[in-house]
Amino acid sequence: MKISFASDALFSWQSPVVVVFATKNEPLAGPPALQTLLHQLTHEEFDGSEKKLLLLHTAGQLPAERLLLVGLGETKELTLETVRRAAGLAAKKLRDVGLTRAGVQIRADLPDCPVADFAGAVVEAVSLATYQFNQFKTSDNHSTQLESLTLALPTDVTASSIRAAIDRARIIADATNYARSIGNLPGNVVTPAVLAHYARQLARQYRLKCTILNQAALRRGQFGGLLAVGGGSTHEPHLIVLEYQPPTPGRHASPIALIGKAITFDSGGISLKPSEKMDEMKFDKCGGVAVLGTLRAAAELRLPIPLLGVIAAAENLPSATSYRPGDIITSYRGKEKRGVTIEVLNTDAEGRIVLCDALAYARQRGARTMIDLATLTGACVVALGPHCAGLLGNDLSLQEQLRAAGQRTGDRVWPLPLWPEYKEMIKSDVADHKNTGGRYGGAITAAAFLARYVGDTPWAHIDIAGTAWTSEEKPYHPKGATGFGIRLLVDWLSRSCGPLQQEMGIPQS
Ligand code: BES
Ligand code: MN
Ligand code: ZN
Repeated sequence: MKISFASDALFSWQSPVVVVFATKNEPLAGPPALQTLLHQLTHEEFDGSEKKLLLLHTAGQLPAERLLLVGLGETKELTLETVRRAAGLAAKKLRDVGLTRAGVQIRADLPDCPVADFAGAVVEAVSLATYQFNQFKTSDNHSTQLESLTLALPTDVTASSIRAAIDRARIIADATNYARSIGNLPGNVVTPAVLAHYARQLARQYRLKCTILNQAALRRGQFGGLLAVGGGSTHEPHLIVLEYQPPTPGRHASPIALIGKAITFDSGGISLKPSEKMDEMKFDKCGGVAVLGTLRAAAELRLPIPLLGVIAAAENLPSATSYRPGDIITSYRGKEKRGVTIEVLNTDAEGRIVLCDALAYARQRGARTMIDLATLTGACVVALGPHCAGLLGNDLSLQEQLRAAGQRTGDRVWPLPLWPEYKEMIKSDVADHKNTGGRYGGAITAAAFLARYVGDTPWAHIDIAGTAWTSEEKPYHPKGATGFGIRLLVDWLSRSCGPLQQEMGIPQS
């Protein structure tokens, strides 16, 4: 999609369509011809309510052939998320009627909504909303795509003042769509080795360092968790490590680690899942895929802090070589003298078992902060539904920063407690701990399990089981993988840069 700028005079453009954003029950600024058009509309037809769209033929009253009115809702409730949703709906409307070029009004007059943020939100949402996963559709009846957007800037706004926001929005949306494209691939196409291949490809393209541990290397390193979970599949488990080094200075600072669960298919293993909706467990790799997307965006944005991505990739299948309920396994020892022993009570609680190896590895590598993303528990979906991810960890200020980043980006996260009582729930009679804590508080006992591996490193755990994919189309999320976590983490990383650089003694530009 081509994006260009032009200064105002939107209503004199000879474009197939011009898109205008309106707040609820407030007049729209524009020339008399526009006012005449709007005058003919009843309140029911268009009042600027959220989710409302109205596509009109201008019949010569404006130079543009059509006018698309897009509702933003009440001015006092407006956030960037409102803008993203409205722009997403608008973009899909244009696509559905086969329009490929549009002029879009950028508003600079909305309270608490800087013009660069508005423009960035529009570009981000248009790109996210029109993403399609059609790689396996062999008939070529692909719908038309938006080819070019011209942003109409108010006369007092220069293109250079919003260019950075636009570039950033495109980088982030492209990284999210990249992650969606991998997330949507089924288990027969993406195996742990294939995921490792994608990581290598990404590393080549964005000059990241990439280290892959295959099954043999995992055995040598005694990654007992990944080996146990991946042992039931003929597709061997892999630990994928990606490292981003910023352009000087921050090179030698210790990295922020992003850790992702990537179960390429989760059947439950010997503790087999019911078959209903089991197909959705192809999305059980989305935590790992979000790590790929975040590293891609971070590298493209040249963020000034080093990052360490660790992806634990395995397939969880029942077979003669599967791990079993009752097994006692030993996780990767990392910095410790010995690995932690785990009593496996349910082979379907596999995410925490691959993650503990990855967390121990990241800690051993000297991560200053660790954030993991995982489609970890159905219990998290029960607790919070599909509208936010669960947020747990050992550092309240990190949690607050992430919560705020979620609020800004729409990748919302919400805290759950992690008190010592929950650790009691996973005590084992025969090992250091067990991999399930019973029926209640499942999202929390899963996090309590992970907590054992992070030591005192500041750590946040984001349970994306309810947000990693959607079975209902949303304003800027088509059905399937959402790419959740990338916009969240890139926002958090960008904002942490300043303070972190200071802490690391890096002079800030
Ligand atoms: N990948 C699932 C969690 C999941 C379930 C994600 C539904 C999205 C939707 C995870 O590996 C799992 O199976 N967790 C179990 C844990 C239980 C056995 C303690 C669960 O949540 O049922
Ligand atoms: Mn499972
Ligand atoms: Zn799983």
